[in-house]
Amino acid sequence: MATADLVLSLLLLFSSLPSSIVAKDDPGHVNVSVQADYVVARTDGNFICATVDWWPPEKCDFGDCSWGNTSIKNLDLSNKILRNAITAFGTMRVRLGGTLQDQVKYTSKPCHEFKAADGDSNYEFIDGCISLNRWDKIHEFFNTTGAFITFGINALHGRVKGHDGVYTVAEAPALQCMHESLSFSDLASSSLRQGNELCGNGGKSNFLVDGNQYGLDLIAFKAMLIDEYAKFGGPPKVAAPGGFYVEDWYKNMLSTSGYGVVDIVTHHVYNLGSGGDGNLVDKVTDPKVLDNIVPTYNEVVGTIKSAGPWSSAWVGESGGAHSSGGKGLSNTFANSFWYLDQLGMVSRHHHKVFCRQTLIGGNYGLLDHDTFVPNPDYYSALLWHRLMGTGVLEASHDGHAHLRSYAHCSKNTPGGVTLLLINLSDSITFEIEINGGTKSYEREIRSRPLAKDDKDQSNREAFHLTPKDGDIQSTVMLLNGKELMLDGKNSIPALDPMVVEASDPLRIAPRSIAFVKLKDFNAAACR
Ligand SMILES: *[C@@H]1O[C@H](CO)[C@@H](O)[C@H](O)[C@H]1NC(C)=O
Ligand SMILES: *[C@@H]1O[C@H](CO)[C@@H](O)[C@H](O)[C@H]1NC(C)=O
Ligand SMILES: *[C@@H]1O[C@H](CO)[C@@H](O)[C@H](O)[C@H]1NC(C)=O
Ligand SMILES: *[C@@H]1O[C@H](CO)[C@@H](O)[C@H](O)[C@H]1NC(C)=O
Repeated sequence: MATADLVLSLLLLFSSLPSSIVAKDDPGHVNVSVQADYVVARTDGNFICATVDWWPPEKCDFGDCSWGNTSIKNLDLSNKILRNAITAFGTMRVRLGGTLQDQVKYTSKPCHEFKAADGDSNYEFIDGCISLNRWDKIHEFFNTTGAFITFGINALHGRVKGHDGVYTVAEAPALQCMHESLSFSDLASSSLRQGNELCGNGGKSNFLVDGNQYGLDLIAFKAMLIDEYAKFGGPPKVAAPGGFYVEDWYKNMLSTSGYGVVDIVTHHVYNLGSGGDGNLVDKVTDPKVLDNIVPTYNEVVGTIKSAGPWSSAWVGESGGAHSSGGKGLSNTFANSFWYLDQLGMVSRHHHKVFCRQTLIGGNYGLLDHDTFVPNPDYYSALLWHRLMGTGVLEASHDGHAHLRSYAHCSKNTPGGVTLLLINLSDSITFEIEINGGTKSYEREIRSRPLAKDDKDQSNREAFHLTPKDGDIQSTVMLLNGKELMLDGKNSIPALDPMVVEASDPLRIAPRSIAFVKLKDFNAAACR
């Protein structure tokens, strides 16, 4: 491994030296500025979300069958790792749903498996169901692991497919099915999601339902929820439409459904392209590819502002690479370049929640689909959940595009700031100065009389993430040099920081990621 590691040096280090020590013409010198006087956006308190899908074990892509028994229908709810992985979050947001949710019927009887569809269908598998008995078990499992559920209900049932491939409502049956699903979802869900990818440009499901029709159905759905949930103190939130963003369609849905009907506008993101692409490792380290989705985030937020300002934006599903993710990439350290960068970007762009496809299942699972052992992204998600507060700060720098920087108010630490720094470069050495708003971090600390003696007040907590053996396609991640692995009882390991005095230099290995918590930042926006 090159010794030219990133040296992240708070200028504090040089507080008694002339500032000229950081040469302005040094190409490696980067000035990271954190606007700590105000927040630019706020995420939901449970920003991290992960999905459990419906795919049967027979689901294969590119000859690779990566789902095993990970579906809502057959996931082993008695698995200890699964339970520990969810409870480690305290509160994790879980979305139950996916492509096949619009093929699911709800029944009180024992239930058959999905059937493989013929070539004419929009779906690979059709005609599945879930029994009340299984639903009760799912409900109990997520309730006792402290998860908040977003349950995806069938929005195709009862619709009739026209010659143009567009489904129209036959009459009441669509509502009838929603009604059935309600008795299932009941109070287990903090939100309900209507339909999956019935709108966008993705895959086979191209505009399966018209946006205005969808809007009308949502009005009826909301009315039904208000009615059903009156005795429980109000309806769960309604999320829609969970597809690929298309401006006109989303505008039609929002303007037709009207004020207060859709609480959460969800859209799906697969900005790395196909899981079968052999160049995924280049894509996740290419700042241009990572940024390619920014216009979409801006447009979604713009559409909500103009057509539905009462609702908020969620990334309802995103796995990086679609079609079950990239084998040997989505489950490795390298995927955290994409994942953590997206988390930073999405929060900065006014989205409240990011649902990762998947918690388990496919190659993009936070947990391995066979062994249930956490993949690197699981730990990335957990660190984010524990360190990043809801207040999003503007972080910018004047350096190379291969350095990515994000900042949030620290979670549960008034005045503290946590930075996320991602080094995509394999050749540039950066030296970083951190500035807070109009004042530099360094001056902020020096101005406080106690700071000099009070070590506790002037330390820094660093969480350095690197791949095992320097191989970014390793499935094993190191935290501060130590392998992250389950202990003998299948428990999630402690995620301890490296605590150093703020005056110590902080080194970050090549092609690595670090969370850096500055609890004495004294950020006005975070007090
Ligand atoms: C990025 O990695 C390169 C080596 O791959 C290293 O020289 C540089 O110091 C690192 N920079 C940052 C900001 O981590
Ligand atoms: C870093 O940026 C801050 C804020 O933009 C600025 O005040 C400061 O002079 C910069 N420092 C260097 C060394 O460029
Ligand atoms: C899934 O579960 C079934 C039934 O318990 C079992 O026969 C099958 O081997 C399992 N498949 C995988 C991939 O674990
Ligand atoms: C679990 O169920 C109980 C009883 O219905 C409820 O009070 C509690 O809020 C639920 N917990 C979660 C995390 O949904």
